[in-house]
Amino acid sequence: MKVLVTGGAGYIGSHVVRLLQQRGDEVVVIDDMSAGVIERLGGAKLLPLDLAAPEAMTLLTELFKTEKIEAVIHLAARKKVGESVELPEWYYEQNISGLAHLLGAMRQTGVTKLVFSSSAATYGMPDVPAVSEDLQCEPINPYGQTKLIGEWMVANAARAWGLRGANLRYFNVAGAGWPDLADTAIANLVPIVFAAIRAGKDPVVFGDDYPTPDGSCVRDYVHVHDLAEAHLSALDYLDRDDRPHDTFNVGTGQGSSVFEVLDEIKKVSEIDFKIDVQPRRAGDPPYLAADVSRIRETLGWSAKRNLHDIIESAWNA
Ligand code: WQD
Repeated sequence: MKVLVTGGAGYIGSHVVRLLQQRGDEVVVIDDMSAGVIERLGGAKLLPLDLAAPEAMTLLTELFKTEKIEAVIHLAARKKVGESVELPEWYYEQNISGLAHLLGAMRQTGVTKLVFSSSAATYGMPDVPAVSEDLQCEPINPYGQTKLIGEWMVANAARAWGLRGANLRYFNVAGAGWPDLADTAIANLVPIVFAAIRAGKDPVVFGDDYPTPDGSCVRDYVHVHDLAEAHLSALDYLDRDDRPHDTFNVGTGQGSSVFEVLDEIKKVSEIDFKIDVQPRRAGDPPYLAADVSRIRETLGWSAKRNLHDIIESAWNA
């Protein structure tokens, strides 16, 4: 199949591209290269483009026709929570207009299959330990809002013109499927701790006074290789006519606390670093883990790699 992967030069996108290539699909990548790394692409054709640019829909329509694209996996988006609070208009323009241009071009050229990268940030601060997709979504920052609006846009396109869409709500992604595909952005816990260790600084824990077993926040850490495989399962699902669901949590169902992650990093790195406990960070829910029964029962997907695999692969990369 010929698949367009937007954001395919990114950390997660490049894992999706590599798995598609390995199974024999032909891949075209769109990426504005603001965070992308071209060496990750393994020879896939790259169209440098900002999907939010005014001319994007025209360029996309041409691309879909000339390249005979059959399906789209859409990962390109701005994804920093703090930045989205500072620059909400930019987040709406990038994440929502970008998707609107993509959907418009798909409708015009009859490309009807889309896997959309959504996020656990759509849930906001739920007060249940394991969130299911049926939970009322109340995102607490513009980033999470753009992902929820994106899901609505996918649902409306399905109703209006028959788009076959699957929304994947990512939990906390980490690890590396291959050493050359490491997460080079220092924007999430694991790479931030690695950077602190390399700089000889004590990693920071934002709060140890949460109502959790060890006082630190609990998250559902999922290996990026598992997550990428979930995209291929979702893509295949779109060929089925019986599709009871369109939104899926992608996690392990297993929560790990910040202290547990740091302990695993100590074991893997064999560096007994000190920990600098700081006050809580605004907007952090104490506990956020996925109920993963729907993706298991509907797509037959479940995570195969655990926290040790995640930390070991990230450290080796
Ligand atoms: C994880 C935990 C921090 C850094 C965000 C987005 C979410 C998704 C994943 C895109 C939290 C703690 C962190 C540090 C720490 N992104 N922490 N010290 O906030 O769970 O989720 O990234 O989809 O949308 O919201 O991820 O990696 O920032 O933090 O103690 O130096 O680690 O407080 O509890 P988060 P994170």
